[in-house]
Amino acid sequence: MKKALITIGSTREYIDPVRYISNESSGQQGMALIKVLLKKKFHIVCLHGYLQVKPIISSQIKYIFTPNARSMLVEAKKNIKVDLAIFNAAVSDYKVKNYSKQKIKKESELNIQLRKNPDILKSICNSKQRPKTTVGFAYETNDVLSNAKKKLKNKKCDYLILNFPFDKNPIFNSRYNNGGILNFDGNYIEIGKATKTSFANQIIRHILK
Ligand code: CTP
Repeated sequence: MKKALITIGSTREYIDPVRYISNESSGQQGMALIKVLLKKKFHIVCLHGYLQVKPIISSQIKYIFTPNARSMLVEAKKNIKVDLAIFNAAVSDYKVKNYSKQKIKKESELNIQLRKNPDILKSICNSKQRPKTTVGFAYETNDVLSNAKKKLKNKKCDYLILNFPFDKNPIFNSRYNNGGILNFDGNYIEIGKATKTSFANQIIRHILK
């Protein structure tokens, strides 16, 4: 049976015990991808941040909670020996430089210094043990195709799924997604507006073809 690794949901970086920075991601698209992978009989390791959807329970899938970028990278490296790795999580790009163990008392201003987090997709794609097929995602608001092409080259994944807002729908927490598939050779296959279920089916069909 083939093995897959998938990252889904959003990670958090805490400022103090109650406050954090994070990214938008409900986990809907990630869970839809898992559903298709299960149908295709993959054994799956799912590294998940915070989710707003119920996980699909199956003996074919192992969930590992990775609340921040660092823990997600550690687990991704441990589970690198797979046929297919999909990086769908919205990873917080920055972590807080000086985490406060005590709750910070409210003042009129708060300055937070942020430091760049490791890039999990880039790190796995540049590893010697790189999975057979790697898939990244890119959410863009402007110059969408040229930004996605730059991201694909920079991260060195085999496919990059481009997502962008449509009709004022930012696609977060929506039943719909919008975008297409960018192949490593730069060829772009438009999917357009589709439900996240349909999007997942089209992505997996294209990748496994
Ligand atoms: N990603 C990752 N680790 C990070 C940041 C992003 O693995 N620290 C992955 C995401 O899971 C996604 C891809 O990289 O598959 C692109 O994520 P995106 O947020 O669109 O791009 P960034 O690399 O964060 O670049 P920017 O925010 O400048 O657009």
